[in-house]
Amino acid sequence: MESETLLLGQTISFNADPFDAPPDDALVWRRRGGVLVRAGRIEAVAEAAALIDAHPHAARVNCGDHILAAGFVDCHNHYSQTRIVASWGERLIDWLNRYTFPEEMRFADPAHAAAVASDYLDLLTANGTTAAATYCTIHPESVDALFSAAEARGMAITAGKVMMDRNAPAGLCDDAQSGFDQSKALIDRWSGRGRLAYAVTPRFAPTSSETQLAAAGALWAEHPDLSMQTHLSEQVEEIDWVRQLFPDDEDYLAVYQRHGLCGPGAIMGHSIHLTARETAALAETGAAVAHCPTSNTFIGSGLCDVAGLKAAGVEVGLATDTGGGSSFSMLATMKAAYEVAQLRGRALHPAQLFWLATAGSARAMRRPAIGRLAPGAAADIIALDPAATPVLAQRTARAKDIFDILFALVILGDDRAISETWIAGHPTKGCYA
Ligand code: GUN
Ligand code: ZN
Repeated sequence: MESETLLLGQTISFNADPFDAPPDDALVWRRRGGVLVRAGRIEAVAEAAALIDAHPHAARVNCGDHILAAGFVDCHNHYSQTRIVASWGERLIDWLNRYTFPEEMRFADPAHAAAVASDYLDLLTANGTTAAATYCTIHPESVDALFSAAEARGMAITAGKVMMDRNAPAGLCDDAQSGFDQSKALIDRWSGRGRLAYAVTPRFAPTSSETQLAAAGALWAEHPDLSMQTHLSEQVEEIDWVRQLFPDDEDYLAVYQRHGLCGPGAIMGHSIHLTARETAALAETGAAVAHCPTSNTFIGSGLCDVAGLKAAGVEVGLATDTGGGSSFSMLATMKAAYEVAQLRGRALHPAQLFWLATAGSARAMRRPAIGRLAPGAAADIIALDPAATPVLAQRTARAKDIFDILFALVILGDDRAISETWIAGHPTKGCYA
């Protein structure tokens, strides 16, 4: 029989979406809980005593008071922008031209791509992020580098070659045919291999011609089970630009819809300044929004109304959008989501923040095996230390309930609060060795 491991600690899991059900009903907390892991999967989540009785021979990993939870899932970021996180100033289009495009140009070099891919995946696991949907660059080498590194680590990574054929430096443009052919070859090479998934990745409407958007739509139609990721209505100048480039479309989303780039499996980054029609169309078609709050404040894009999108029936996940986003930490991203919601007059509950950062993002990526601490799910698990730093320790010592502790972790925590990250059952930090 495969060996079993029993992780012991506090546990949190969800049995409902806390935007639909009261948080107390949606979140299941066990003061002395356990997670039974076998062959990279979660076998059971239950009271520690019951699991110890039923599985006396399982290896035990005692995490004390640390909180075992599903690993974080970041449903929109750019691994290729890892080196330019925290670059000062600028609005979106200037920021792309000044920092992003020069850095993405460097991914023609496979050695650069491999070095950044490795650093990026290290940053994810250090921050408790066990899965992500990420953008590579136009270079197929950038996809090979990331998928090779993710495969070696056994991580659930969704990624794709960026397609763009205009309004970018010549060295960063493909064309409709080469973008299609290269993407197709990458799908054949990588899609569904181990825990890897391919996402058709037209960067955003302004950097693709009509012909390329049509080619991206055709490619997705040939592979409808894949994700499709792009950017939508991030900044007002960008929306004006889209209006000029596509004068016959009634709004930004209509451009994507006309090219078959909206529907289940679509992950629309940002989606801040939506019309009522666009919100309704996202809900009706089953497309998801990646909420990127640290990026939306950092680049000055605006305040996305997550609660409003959820109430309208839109799937929403949480995302760092690094390097436009300012942190690799999903705790920091939850904090920003909370603050942005406060500015919109809607306080997000800690259960809602944790749900967005796990199950919400997994749903956006259509990957039901991740983002859940539940039997049958992948054993992508984190341990959170409620006393990781002095300020956390003194605050959580007087917490009144689990939500108080989770909220303190969101507001005061960072990578130091992630005491362990298990990828498919394998510890990456050795904290409890
Ligand atoms: N819109 C198009 N490309 C990008 C990008 O790389 N980052 C952000 N934040 N927005 C974009
Ligand atoms: Zn982005």
